[in-house]
Amino acid sequence: MSTDQRSDRTVAGHRLVVAVDGPSSSGKSTVGAEAARRLGYRFCDTGLLYRAVAWLAVERGISPDQTAALVPLAGEVELVADRRGRLRHVEAAGRDVTAEVRGPAVDRAVSDYSKVPELRAALVPRQRALAGDGGIIMAGRDIGTVILPKADVKIYLYASPEERARRRAAQRKVAGNETAASGILEDMRRRDTIDSERETAPLRTAEDAIVVKTDGNTFTQTVATVVRTIRQAEAIRGGDRGR
Ligand code: DC
Repeated sequence: MSTDQRSDRTVAGHRLVVAVDGPSSSGKSTVGAEAARRLGYRFCDTGLLYRAVAWLAVERGISPDQTAALVPLAGEVELVADRRGRLRHVEAAGRDVTAEVRGPAVDRAVSDYSKVPELRAALVPRQRALAGDGGIIMAGRDIGTVILPKADVKIYLYASPEERARRRAAQRKVAGNETAASGILEDMRRRDTIDSERETAPLRTAEDAIVVKTDGNTFTQTVATVVRTIRQAEAIRGGDRGR
């Protein structure tokens, strides 16, 4: 099949809504973005919205319990598309803060902000609107359970805390530094606990999600699994519609 035919096939109506959930550093963003590129889908990293709000709140000295001051910050953050239509950048108060929001200060603070129900409620419609009529991979914690419960494909990316801490340490270029690495693992466990035990939209595996275990897999292998899963679902959808 030529590339043109392939895109005709997807434009014809098999472009799916795909939810990818999982804990921090499970690879949702990198794997999701690369899978989207290969499939010609849009990609959206919803964690950036929570990170940008947390960053703004810290900058302005607003704590998680100051709900009335916190919630309006949701209106000041915006996801920005790159030239491939991937929503992997975020602006806060009109400035690109993508690099800042991925730093350790936001890592430490963000879970305490993202458990505030009123803030989550303010961000729900914005995420739903981004899904549009499909052809999108949306990554987060509650995409398959709360934001897009009717998603065509739900993937839960699993990696052990140790594996995720190793990846984060490599990203931060502190892989050989034992103190830094064990600090990252400890932080990761603390955030996992807050994200999974919060009352509103906790991180959990949707009943109809496909769990993709990534420990010991290369990035390329995980991307291939995700792409294959989505293509299989596209084919099934295509078959259903043809009947
Ligand atoms: O995926 P991440 O590490 O960039 O997420 C940052 C924080 O945002 C994390 O505390 C979980 C929260 N989050 C969330 O609660 N719901 C989402 N859909 C995405 C992220």
